[in-house]
Amino acid sequence: MNDKIVLITGATGGIGKAAAIALAKWGFTVVIHGRNRQKTEQVCEEIKAATGNNKIDMIVANLFSLKDVRSMANTFKQKYKRLDVLINNAGGIMGKDREITTDGVEKTIAINLLAPFLLTELLLDILKNSSDGRIINVSSNSHKLNAKPDFDDLSLKKGYNPLRAYGNSKLFLIWITQHLSQVLNQQGIKNITVNTLHPGAVATNFGVESNLGAVLNFIVKLTRPLFKTPEQGADTIVYLATSSEVSNCSGKYFVNRKQASIAEKYYSEKNEKAVWEYCKENTKAFTN
Ligand SMILES: NC(=O)c1ccc[n+]([C@@H]2O[C@H](COP(=O)([O-])OP(=O)(O)OC[C@H]3O[C@@H](n4cnc5c(N)ncnc54)[C@H](OP(=O)(O)O)[C@@H]3O)[C@@H](O)[C@H]2O)c1
Repeated sequence: MNDKIVLITGATGGIGKAAAIALAKWGFTVVIHGRNRQKTEQVCEEIKAATGNNKIDMIVANLFSLKDVRSMANTFKQKYKRLDVLINNAGGIMGKDREITTDGVEKTIAINLLAPFLLTELLLDILKNSSDGRIINVSSNSHKLNAKPDFDDLSLKKGYNPLRAYGNSKLFLIWITQHLSQVLNQQGIKNITVNTLHPGAVATNFGVESNLGAVLNFIVKLTRPLFKTPEQGADTIVYLATSSEVSNCSGKYFVNRKQASIAEKYYSEKNEKAVWEYCKENTKAFTN
């Protein structure tokens, strides 16, 4: 079936762009998201030329802004009445100094957690119009290595460092994925699945422009030659978007196309719920 409609965030480079190209080759309608209009237009044309698929569309939004996330969802819904695959891929690690968005949210949490949470919530109604709706959240193995959440201070007003903030945000993204899967199940919604994945260590622009501090900058440079290519990094995303093997699988975490375990250290139903409520509370002003 090649009449699927796919929306992928952060598709102007790295893993997102590689996934968009692969999905365009399947013949799907692929709507790529970027934050810079000129760059997004350029990538759109590049994908059309590389794949011969002219059903490539684009949408622009700065995911640091929840208002932009809302207008992105509205723009999409004005044009498309159905969404088959939502890929929340855009994300990143920030610099060594804690920064907040115009919404007053720490930037790592804003892009890696609140933006996908809100975008998903706003697009759920048209995902319901798909016979095989899939939500794919790009997380990271960093949730095992670097997360150290403080449940009284989820946005790290104290004790911020970029790796900790990144690890926490990706751990929370896994938890909200699991939670949404349960909510959909409880609501009897059988035609939407939601899964998450780690793409591997991939040579992209990830972390390159963040001022992580001298030691981390050095480690990133040193280890980069060992990384996967963006195409290899996109493989599990494309698998989750297309394979019939996972059409009934929901709430799971994947690495290299296989279900994998998640870090247990900080997990409890109570903590998962607390993160879900935090996301709801911090996005509620933008849900209508
Ligand atoms: N690379 C890795 O080793 C690795 C490992 C584990 C997980 N991941 C995850 O994989 C996903 C993709 O990362 P990548 O490696 O492909 O990184 P990347 O090359 O830096 O690409 C990130 C994408 O997100 C977009 N983006 C960043 N901030 C944005 C904002 N505020 N608003 C809108 N768009 C924004 C970027 O747009 P611009 O082109 O305008 O910058 C770009 O399209 C991320 O969620 C990342 O956390 C990556």
